[in-house]
This record gives sequence, C-alpha cells and structure tokens, in this order.
Amino acid sequence: MSDANASPSKPREISGKIVLITGASGGLGRCIVPALLAAGARRVIAADRSLERWNDAAVEPIVLDITNRNGASDAAMRLADDVDVLINNAGHNHNTRFLEVDDPENALREMQVNYFGTLNMIRAFSPAMRRRGHAVIVNMLTVGSHVCFPNMGSYCASKAALHSMTQSVRAELGFCGVDVVGIYPPAVDTKMSSHVPPAQKISPEDVAAQLVATLCNGDEEIYIGMAADLYERARREPKAVENMLKGRVAPVN
Ligand SMILES: NC(=O)c1ccc[n+]([C@@H]2O[C@H](COP(=O)([O-])OP(=O)(O)OC[C@H]3O[C@@H](n4cnc5c(N)ncnc54)[C@H](OP(=O)(O)O)[C@@H]3O)[C@@H](O)[C@H]2O)c1
Repeated sequence: MSDANASPSKPREISGKIVLITGASGGLGRCIVPALLAAGARRVIAADRSLERWNDAAVEPIVLDITNRNGASDAAMRLADDVDVLINNAGHNHNTRFLEVDDPENALREMQVNYFGTLNMIRAFSPAMRRRGHAVIVNMLTVGSHVCFPNMGSYCASKAALHSMTQSVRAELGFCGVDVVGIYPPAVDTKMSSHVPPAQKISPEDVAAQLVATLCNGDEEIYIGMAADLYERARREPKAVENMLKGRVAPVN
C-alpha cells in the first residue's frame, strides 16, 4: 500500500554542481558551505549582505541583500544559467512577540526577509532553471513554520508563510524538473538562538550534514532532530501542543 504522506524521492547529485547559498556567513551558512564542498560541489557562490572572505578558491563571495528585488534580478542575470542548486538560507528573527515590542517594524522586517526576500530569489532564479529542466531550490524553514512559539510569534508567522509558499512553488515548478526542498530544523546553536539553553538546540554542523544528505537522497523535506518529534505531535494533537507552548509565555507587566 502506498503511503499518502510520503514525499517522492529520487537521488540527486551534488558532485560537480554549482550552488548559490544566501546568508552564507551566518551561523548555519558557515557550516553548509564546507559541507557542500565536501560533498563534491564544484563551486559555491556565497551570498551575503557584505563582502566576506572565504579561504577556498571554490567559494565565490558575492554581495546580495535578498530584500532588494533588483539586486536579486541582477544576480540572476549574471549567475542563474550556471546555478544548479539555490539554497535560500538567509533569515531574520527578532525573537519578539507580536505585542509588547519596542519596534512595531519587527514583524514587517521578518516578513520582508524570510518571505518576500526568499520569493525574490525564487522569482529571479527559477526562469533559467525551468528552461534547463533540472535544478533544486532549498528553503530553510523551521519547525516554527508549523507550531507557533509565542515568544517569537512574528518570526513563526513569517516562516509559516514561507512553508505555504514552498508548497506552492513546488507545485508550480515540479512540472519543469525543478525540485523544491524544505529543511525544518529545531533551534540551532547560532547567534539567532543564543538565548536557547544548550540542551534544546542542535549544532549547525548537524543541520548542514542533514541538508546535504537530503539533497543527495532526493527527499522533498526533512524535519531534523527534535523538530521531527514536535511536528509529529502537532499533527496528532495540535491543541495540546498549542497549549504547551502557550504555557511558556510569562505575562508582561
Ligand atoms: N538558529 C536557529 O535556531 C534556526 C532554527 C531553524 C531555522 N533557522 C533558519 O536558518 C537560517 C540561517 O539562520 P542562522 O541560524 O544561521 O542565523 P544567523 O547566524 O543570524 O544568520 C542569518 C544569515 O542571514 C543573513 N541575512 C539576514 N537578512 C538578510 C538579507 N536581507 N539579505 C541577505 N542575507 C540576510 C544574515 O546576514 P547579516 O549578518 O548581514 O545579517 C546572516 O548571514 C535562517 O533562515 C533561519 O531562520 C535557524
């Protein structure tokens, strides 16, 4: 009997490929770049908001703010014909609630980077990928795309929107041979989650290794470590999970 919940799986090759990754110098990006090279990637285009140094001739640093639609289009005009794999890793998290925040722009900024910025990249790079008829787009999501952590509610909402967009572009691009992959980690030990106790987060090296494995084995999505358990529980008993997470919010005076 076929499993209606299983995603299709066809092995993919990283060896010899050209990969562009955004947010390459962040905590996770710094681990994903060497993991891609170790898996045989021919060239990694490492995109950041400012020019970064990489001590490897196979890494080509570029400057790219994903919220700048023209910047994304310019990068695609130069590079999209070469890029086999686009990893949308850049992300932003103010770690704030919807209410009782100093700056009401926080929620907007998270949507601009996590949702619209990623959309800018996909819109810019996918036409060349469709023409070629084979490519992979990887979106860096989070278990918070499925369950809301109220202390970072606006971030979770932006990643929930990105999850929905991931499904939609997967449907739109699947006919043209372009795979869209979702990566759903739990808290990761980077600057973004520096407030999270060590026992509740995994290493960025682990996430990088699992991202590369997912790329190679052809899966459409992966829930990593504690994210898998929480996601499964949220599917089985969504109200229990919502109430558990609600209990973590201390009232603000
Ligand atoms: N850390 C976690 O707990 C965790 C868990 C699940 C998922 N994730 C996701 O994993 C990804 C990487 O996060 P991380 O943990 O590595 O965080 P990080 O260390 O804060 O890195 C984020 C990266 O994104 C870049 N970025 C932010 N805004 C950008 C923009 N407008 N244009 C281009 N680049 C931009 C940052 O550049 P600047 O340094 O210039 O700001 C930085 O390089 C994010 O999508 C995040 O949401 C993280």
